[in-house]
Amino acid sequence: MNKLYYINTYGCQMNVHESEKIAGILRECGYSEAATEEEADLIVFNTCCIRDTAEKKIFGNIGDVKKYKKNNPSLIVAVVGCMSQQSGYSEKIKKSYPFVNIVLGTSNLPELAEAVKNVESKLNKSFISVPCNERPQIKEDIPVYRTSGTNAWVNIMYGCDNFCSYCIVPYVRGRERSRDIENITDEIKSLLDEGYKEITLLGQNVDSYRFENFRFVDILERIARIEGKFRVRFMSSHPKDFNSEVIDVIRSCPNICNNIHLPVQSGSDRILSLMNRRYTRAQYLDIISEIREKIPDCGITTDIMTGFPTETEEDFADTLDLVKKVGFSNAFTFVYSPRKGTVAAEMEQLPSEVKKRRITELVNLQNEITKRLSLDYIGKTEEVLVEDRHPKLKNHYCGRTDSGRLVNFSGECAIGEFVKVKVTSSKSASLWGEYDG
Ligand code: 5AD
Ligand code: SF4
Repeated sequence: MNKLYYINTYGCQMNVHESEKIAGILRECGYSEAATEEEADLIVFNTCCIRDTAEKKIFGNIGDVKKYKKNNPSLIVAVVGCMSQQSGYSEKIKKSYPFVNIVLGTSNLPELAEAVKNVESKLNKSFISVPCNERPQIKEDIPVYRTSGTNAWVNIMYGCDNFCSYCIVPYVRGRERSRDIENITDEIKSLLDEGYKEITLLGQNVDSYRFENFRFVDILERIARIEGKFRVRFMSSHPKDFNSEVIDVIRSCPNICNNIHLPVQSGSDRILSLMNRRYTRAQYLDIISEIREKIPDCGITTDIMTGFPTETEEDFADTLDLVKKVGFSNAFTFVYSPRKGTVAAEMEQLPSEVKKRRITELVNLQNEITKRLSLDYIGKTEEVLVEDRHPKLKNHYCGRTDSGRLVNFSGECAIGEFVKVKVTSSKSASLWGEYDG
């Protein structure tokens, strides 16, 4: 009988794409995808540890699968990725959940095939391998089973050297490594041949891409100039490295989307310095002015945190003020969460009521801004890449504008097509419209 896998993915786009690689490996091991966790023969947790809430949730969910082992004693449970990579966590996972069979870190995913075969053959009922090599070699030939529709994720670099004082990523993903530009270009060309219409370049800090003499701006331009009708997006950028050359390339290449994700984290210079972000509020605002001047319709999104250690009411007011000044089309907002081993975790922490009050205020402000900016689209005709059918409405589709806004619209078209949509109304973050050719 066919063996089935089920993957639980937590965290960022990097993890979403890594789960596609996990699926690719498992399919080569003879597994196919299960519709539900309950019917699976192999359950994978592809984990995240960026905040404590993520970790707690994952631990709870791992505990929940124990019940399936009763009906299916040969069920294999694997925990992989960022959470497992933290120092002491493989032991912690095995101790709390002895039924977990496989624990792998962030850099040794290809060992999953060997681990599964090992556990299946009962040679070794658990397989734990979490190497802590800081600069693991990039492995190029991992099979990928893509599940992201018209968009294909493509890694250009791995790891991070920035050591923002709150962030666990450099500890669990190691030092920066960039992929060979030829391998990236070849992968993208074959994805376009397969019919993908949007390529999203991924890296913890794409601006740090460096292969021989090629920098991020070089690879961005090289990819954008590949023939054919398709879109290019990228994430994430770091304001200290984002530069005029990148803005100029976005402006000059029509298929690079006018959509930039530029995490600001805080609007206070004092907090930015404590965060080790290495830019000031004024420098950030200068980048925004340059983007607005050169690419007026650019959608700018960001990540912001409230409640970083020692953040005062004045620091927080600076964040709100920056958010008002920029007018982000959307913001991912987070309550600061201390991560063991990072510099900020050793600082004096703010009470959780203060953090919560501030995040609520920030979220309300951003919602108002998003809603107001949505009104600007009404009456305009936008080019939209059709991503899917609307989940509920008949003869309705959804897709994204070049600037990254979600649009629901009525009409007849095909998934993967570029269409014109006339925007007729908006509901806070989403736009509504009609097919217009
Ligand atoms: N607490 C809260 N948010 C965090 N992020 C990273 N580390 C933490 C933390 N310790 C947020 C940052 C980053 C996004 C991916 O997650 O805003 O840009
Ligand atoms: Fe974390 Fe900073 Fe690196 Fe982003 S740039 S992954 S926030 S350390």
